[in-house]
Amino acid sequence: MNYLAPSILAADFCELGKQIKEVEQAGAQYLHFDIMDGMFVPSISFGMPVLESIKPCTQMFIDAHMMVVQPERYIDDLAKSGADGITIHVEACDCIEETLKKIKSLGLKAGIAINPPTPVSEIIPYIGMADMVLVMTVNPGFGGQKYISECTDKIREIRRVIDEKYPDVLLQIDGGVNLDNLQMNLDAGANVIVAGSAVFKGNIKENTLKFLNILG
Ligand code: DX5
Ligand code: ZN
Repeated sequence: MNYLAPSILAADFCELGKQIKEVEQAGAQYLHFDIMDGMFVPSISFGMPVLESIKPCTQMFIDAHMMVVQPERYIDDLAKSGADGITIHVEACDCIEETLKKIKSLGLKAGIAINPPTPVSEIIPYIGMADMVLVMTVNPGFGGQKYISECTDKIREIRRVIDEKYPDVLLQIDGGVNLDNLQMNLDAGANVIVAGSAVFKGNIKENTLKFLNILG
């Protein structure tokens, strides 16, 4: 099973509720929620108050992507605000094992993310502790960037480890994914597809349906 996770970073915030309903009604299963702190990444996005206000207007799985240093500081608050899953970065946390356990102990799904320059070996010890691995396919911080093609090999490599040892772990990709490179990424082994600009720019319903058609 493959899943689509539209990233609201690319939504029009004057129309946020309406645009969330559009992707949901078209069949998207996850809602990707990018939290940026201006430290781990250069930009600042949004956080708990926005999460709390969108929670009642969707049934989709809310997938919080923490681009934040020491994400362990926010797990309780994110859970209270309505996150269904929380993904932390291997580069941003000194207590990864404890934080993944904490996320799970609250009944949420736990994800571990890796940036393009970070070697796969850094994330291997944590794959078995997570429900999902997120392979960044751009350097995080901004929507609308170009997919970094060197990351495709990383997806393949992590897919091999997952298939061999942890077949239940999902493999998410995030950054620069569009209808032209989607199939290549599915072939490499990704099964949770984040897409911001490629879903929210233009006709949202049509874009979502086109993605879901390829996801099968
Ligand atoms: C980037 C964020 C992404 C972003 C993707 O740092 O983590 O989730 O919204 O946007 P696109 O699909 O436009 O690259
Ligand atoms: Zn993201």
